[in-house]
Amino acid sequence: MSVTSLTQDATEERRASLYVIPAADPEKERLQTQYAFKKMLFGWNEPIPHSVDITNLNNILDVAAGTFAWTLDIAAMPKVRRRVAKPNDDSGYNVDGIHLFACDIETKFFPDKDVTGQLGITAFQHDATQRFPADLHDKFDLVHVSFLFLCLTQEGWKSALRNCYEVLKPGGTLLIDEADPVMYSEMASAPAEDAVGHDLDKCLSAPGWLGNANRIYTAFALENGFFVDMTFRLSNLLREAGFEVADTKRVVAPSGRACHTLRPDLTEHGFEEFSVENITSIFEHLAAALFAKDKLCNNEGTAVTSLEEMKNMVAGVKEGLRQEGGFSFGRYCVARKTQA
Ligand SMILES: C[S@@+](CC[C@H](N)C(=O)[O-])C[C@H]1O[C@@H](n2cnc3c(N)ncnc32)[C@H](O)[C@@H]1O
Repeated sequence: MSVTSLTQDATEERRASLYVIPAADPEKERLQTQYAFKKMLFGWNEPIPHSVDITNLNNILDVAAGTFAWTLDIAAMPKVRRRVAKPNDDSGYNVDGIHLFACDIETKFFPDKDVTGQLGITAFQHDATQRFPADLHDKFDLVHVSFLFLCLTQEGWKSALRNCYEVLKPGGTLLIDEADPVMYSEMASAPAEDAVGHDLDKCLSAPGWLGNANRIYTAFALENGFFVDMTFRLSNLLREAGFEVADTKRVVAPSGRACHTLRPDLTEHGFEEFSVENITSIFEHLAAALFAKDKLCNNEGTAVTSLEEMKNMVAGVKEGLRQEGGFSFGRYCVARKTQA
């Protein structure tokens, strides 16, 4: 199957999406701002960390690209922009130029064709848990994956990483950043970087709004069979898929009041309120999905039985974040496909 025929499999592939946030305008805007927020969290002033060298790249793929925030950002880098290859009528893409590809299981977020056309971006629909078409195997110098932690089951992740490996050239680079759906309010109770993982029972039964936050965030991930501890496991998952990990960093992602103490730069750049709105708008969708399955409980383990109770639960979390602040953890990894 070639890239061009992929869109015909749209209906079949959409069924595989476990992402519960609807592909509508608010989500499009949220993803755009979240991208800028994430770059600041990781301390990147470019779409890549310093450990990724883009000097001699030809083919770049953004997997689960959403709004193409990363694809468009990398296309705007001067080093990339001057080498972006555009297709010509007879001979296809200039082999010495940079050719950008971006895919997602959902096409509603894709930029207009005139935007992608200007930059020579090949946009296509694809479920990352399925193998890419054979004409893409061993093709890419750089593959990017970001924020799929609320989308893929543990098995789905193993397939997705294998599929990314398969499309990279030997020596090619995977840049991936993910987060753990577990929230804390005090550093003293959060796990050290070399811990085995989160103490989930403690997190789910934490008093007040914090426990309720995890009864939404963590419980949703557990209910769906997602990883809740990617920041601890990502390096090993990558090694199991055949990669060598060249660079990795864990970061604290504060929300609300915690920005003041943990990352004042976020407050200075106007991200404090976004850090609350962003996570609580996600919580609204996750709570509704759990509620619909009769699986939403409060921090004492009592089932939430009305929509009003559910709304109050999210509102309480929002207030807690604004007044006291909370944080979670994220991690990026730069991994290389071992040379054949
Ligand atoms: C949180 S968004 C992240 C989007 C983008 N990577 C970013 O960082 O802005 C998750 C994206 O993953 C997509 N997605 C969910 N399941 C997928 C799958 N199995 N294969 C490919 N994309 C998937 C969703 O449609 C959505 O666009």
